[in-house]
Amino acid sequence: MRGLIVNRQCVCGNTWKMLVAAASGHTVVLVDQSDEILKKSTKGIEESLKRVIKKKFADKPEAGAEFIKKTLKNLTTSTDAASVVHSTDLVIEAIVENLEVKNKLFQTLDKFAPEHTIFASNTSSLQITKMANATTRQDRFGGLHFFNPVPMMKLVEVIKTPMTSQKTFESLVDFSKAVGKSPVSCKDTPGFIVNRLLVPYMMEAVRLFERGDASKEDIDVAMKLGAGYPMGPFELLDYVGLDTSKYIIDGWHSLEPNNPLFAPSPLLNKLVEEKKLGKKTGEGFYKYK
Ligand SMILES: NC(=O)c1ccc[n+]([C@@H]2O[C@H](COP(=O)([O-])OP(=O)(O)OC[C@H]3O[C@@H](n4cnc5c(N)ncnc54)[C@H](O)[C@@H]3O)[C@@H](O)[C@H]2O)c1
Repeated sequence: MRGLIVNRQCVCGNTWKMLVAAASGHTVVLVDQSDEILKKSTKGIEESLKRVIKKKFADKPEAGAEFIKKTLKNLTTSTDAASVVHSTDLVIEAIVENLEVKNKLFQTLDKFAPEHTIFASNTSSLQITKMANATTRQDRFGGLHFFNPVPMMKLVEVIKTPMTSQKTFESLVDFSKAVGKSPVSCKDTPGFIVNRLLVPYMMEAVRLFERGDASKEDIDVAMKLGAGYPMGPFELLDYVGLDTSKYIIDGWHSLEPNNPLFAPSPLLNKLVEEKKLGKKTGEGFYKYK
């Protein structure tokens, strides 16, 4: 299956979706808004591949070099999605978490993509149905929700809207397995499985801290040592990106304004306003070098 990943370079991960697809033998085009971003993405991919072969091919450097060569051969980049989509079987959209921007892109791609091409969004919180309805291919539209860091995290949530055909759903499940992931399925409901449970938990941690009940450091230690989580909620928020987290909670709050689990946080809003977005900007709840 040839895939077009409409995406970006980033430590937060979307580049890595492309990487796992290319490493598993798929032909992939990575699309982003500028050559500069794409250059950074390509560099990030090469560095990541070097790390992979150090572990995977420790005793066989020649096989490692061949793996990198083969993977990179599967990758190309473009800043013009419309001009490359004509030769793709699958589009995975992973751009900014904004319905209007996503719909505009899908509408353009819908005009140029072949009839059979499946569209999938990697959205963490938006309704897949609303994106599908912006196109003429509602039956060939679903969600493919990967988790960061994508090369390490085994899960993919495959989202089926009421219009997604069984054939499309099965193709998305097969694709997830072909890139080495373990798919689970969920209906098109806010946050699907993981974020529906995780985002209210992280927001509750922010509220605990905002009330002054505990320090963010202690909350992180408590959840790591007491609940066995690999990261505390503030470390995780910084990793995910505070802007992305805010988009999610604001969107859900507008859907269900009386649900206290979806209440916005003044502290999170303030940090986003100050452009302290977490690891990607060097500062969020914590500072990074
Ligand atoms: N951050 C996470 O941990 C995470 C995890 C799973 C899923 N997601 C989802 O992935 C998507 C991206 O999240 P993010 O945090 O990486 O966002 P981000 O805003 O940090 O990055 C978005 C990227 O999309 C590019 N972009 C924007 N408009 C574009 C367009 N029209 N065409 C091509 N590229 C365009 C930008 O240049 C940028 O590189 C969102 O839907 C988010 O919900 C994020």
